[in-house]
Amino acid sequence: MGKNKLGFPLTYNKLYEYYDLLSANQDEIDRKNRFIDKILSQYKVKTVLDFTCGTGAQLFGLTKLGYQVTGVDLSPFLLKIAKEKSRQKKLEVEIIEGDVRETQVGSFDATITIFNAIGHLTKTDFETSIRNVHKNLVNGGLYVFDIFNLNAMTDDAIKNLAMDVKVITGNTKIYHNQNSEINRENGRLTSYDCFTIEKEYDEPKVLKDEFTLQIYTAKELRKILVRNRFEVLGQYEINGSKLLEQETINMLTVAKRS
Ligand SMILES: C[S@@+](CC[C@H](N)C(=O)[O-])C[C@H]1O[C@@H](n2cnc3c(N)ncnc32)[C@H](O)[C@@H]1O
Repeated sequence: MGKNKLGFPLTYNKLYEYYDLLSANQDEIDRKNRFIDKILSQYKVKTVLDFTCGTGAQLFGLTKLGYQVTGVDLSPFLLKIAKEKSRQKKLEVEIIEGDVRETQVGSFDATITIFNAIGHLTKTDFETSIRNVHKNLVNGGLYVFDIFNLNAMTDDAIKNLAMDVKVITGNTKIYHNQNSEINRENGRLTSYDCFTIEKEYDEPKVLKDEFTLQIYTAKELRKILVRNRFEVLGQYEINGSKLLEQETINMLTVAKRS
């Protein structure tokens, strides 16, 4: 069993330049953004705080869809990429280094933390973050976030999370092998990663990594939100279909500041 200590994967720091290549593909990002758009438009949202924006998967997607989005993230490395993209795309977005647990940016119609971002927080820090999200929302503002569903993490589901991929960028080949393990007692999902970076003429570099995410059941999330002055409006499969409490792997929760 792993150390069970939360932490960040190497793709947020040492290997940040490969984050986009090694994380979700553009189709998945677009699909998620379309569903988030569907929710935000239903509630007439105009301004959005992306509190864990990383390299900008939602930040730029939602900006293009017409929202006024501000991006915040803890990783200066990923923010560097986000800022470079905003220059290239000529999209005027505010991008700030900050922490979902304490940064105050303003009063937004909605706040989002997408792609299991809250899994990097301890349960106590998640509650601190929810209270801070509350402070960054207008009255009745929305909090939209996704996280793996602990109830759905059967042995088969854990096996299905495994990855063995090769990606190529310029003259660099990257092999990424990942396996996961779940501690069902405390809801901690540990990922063991091995990256092999092959650059032309250089010796291949092998980097091993281990990080843990705190994951939740749908019911647990509802309880946490309610005791921190949010009303839960809905919980879904990340692609928009109905949440199956024992089966849905990636669940998206929509809550309203009350
Ligand atoms: C899996 S990435 C998701 C990034 C982006 N939303 C996406 O879909 O690609 C999780 C992000 O959460 C950020 N993060 C983790 N803890 C944070 C904190 N306390 N405050 C702000 N950002 C945080 C990480 O730096 C990382 O960019």
